[in-house]
Amino acid sequence: MKLAVIGGGSTYTPELVDGLARLRDVLPVEELALMDPAADRLGPVGGLARRILARQGHPARITTTGDLEAAVDGADAVLLQLRVGGQAARENDETWPLECGCVGQETTGAGGLAKALRTVPVVLDIAERVRRANPDAWIVDFTNPVGIVTRALLTAGHRAVGLCNVAVGFQYRFAAMLGVRPEQVELDHVGLNHLTWERGVRVDGQEVLPRLLAEHGERIAGLLHMPLPVIARLGVVPSYYLRYFYAHDEVVRQLRTGPSRASEVAATERRLLEMYADPTLDEKPELLGTRGGAHYSEAAVALTAALLGRTGVPEEPGVPEEPEGRGGAGAVRNVQVVNTFNNGTLPFLPDDAVVEVPAAVGPSGAVPLPVAPLEPLYAGLVSAVTTYEHLALEAALHGGRDRVFDALLAHPLVGQFEYAEKLTDRLVAHNRDHLAWA
Ligand code: G6P
Ligand code: MN
Repeated sequence: MKLAVIGGGSTYTPELVDGLARLRDVLPVEELALMDPAADRLGPVGGLARRILARQGHPARITTTGDLEAAVDGADAVLLQLRVGGQAARENDETWPLECGCVGQETTGAGGLAKALRTVPVVLDIAERVRRANPDAWIVDFTNPVGIVTRALLTAGHRAVGLCNVAVGFQYRFAAMLGVRPEQVELDHVGLNHLTWERGVRVDGQEVLPRLLAEHGERIAGLLHMPLPVIARLGVVPSYYLRYFYAHDEVVRQLRTGPSRASEVAATERRLLEMYADPTLDEKPELLGTRGGAHYSEAAVALTAALLGRTGVPEEPGVPEEPEGRGGAGAVRNVQVVNTFNNGTLPFLPDDAVVEVPAAVGPSGAVPLPVAPLEPLYAGLVSAVTTYEHLALEAALHGGRDRVFDALLAHPLVGQFEYAEKLTDRLVAHNRDHLAWA
């Protein structure tokens, strides 16, 4: 089995390799191809990746290349984790919206639109080349904004699934709070990428969300930077990205005074790359845990395994197959939270909207499980942001100032034409180098 990672020079890669090493029974990888145009990153990242595998006695071969065709040749799955324009572009996305009193964030609001416009054409080009090289390969997209990028991929007919670590992050945190294993925890996770709510938390099939909120509400509110009474009143756990909506003005005030997240991450990355270059380091450093992508390797390995038909793995002879549905310890669950076409799951959205919900995943793709009707309190926002995502994709595919303006006007965090005008000007000015039409 061969996996290719596009953007393999990311400082996150050791997290993925660590997951592959730990979960080798689940996903027996023989070759991991790390592709990245940045050779200065591939060297140290590839070196550490090899040492992590060697330390754990994992036989997989790691290859590093700047050549996409070489990386995807013969790959069963291709993981996309690239960032067009690097942290410098992210720094921009987080800064110029603030001049208009709007939130500056890499996936939400005007900054997220800029990232979508830079990213969608690049990802579609890569996906086309993957399809040419290997039409059966699965594409797993972590490249943000995952909702819009996945919609672009699926609309173009690619075999793709979008993935984010928010759900798996909650799964691990809730398990720790409740003193149970993460595999025992299932989430009723619903919404769009970076716009989700946990409406239920089950441990071994028993609903525990009310107890979780009663006993650990303070901790949860602290993690989300939201007031406990609000969370207690809603009775659900919003993702921390909802803070950009529910506490917009407060967030803007904070973002205006503090250092940007991009500058913090850039400093962490410099430090990480120095550490990776140390030939004595053979595990992922703790510093990597300060990045937002915690546990993404777990989700990535599980999703790739399910797409490659490794659900319910047990390798040893005589171990019975896992029953259909939710897997037990040591097996890959075939129900995983992913981004895929709505196809009626949320009936008030178009079928070709991309939702983030639990889905049954197997070799023929991801099929969302039915979800209970979404409360109007959340459905309104989901509807509005879905419309924004549709218009954002139109702008990314066809370009033009008017399409950018329309997407911004439709975004619930912008909404006024005065801001939409100003933000359009700034978005275009800051991203000219990345937009073919500008
Ligand atoms: C979370 C999100 C990711 C995002 C990351 C940012 O994990 O789910 O989509 O990329 O946070 O983390 P960073 O350390 O780059 O701020
Ligand atoms: Mn995410």
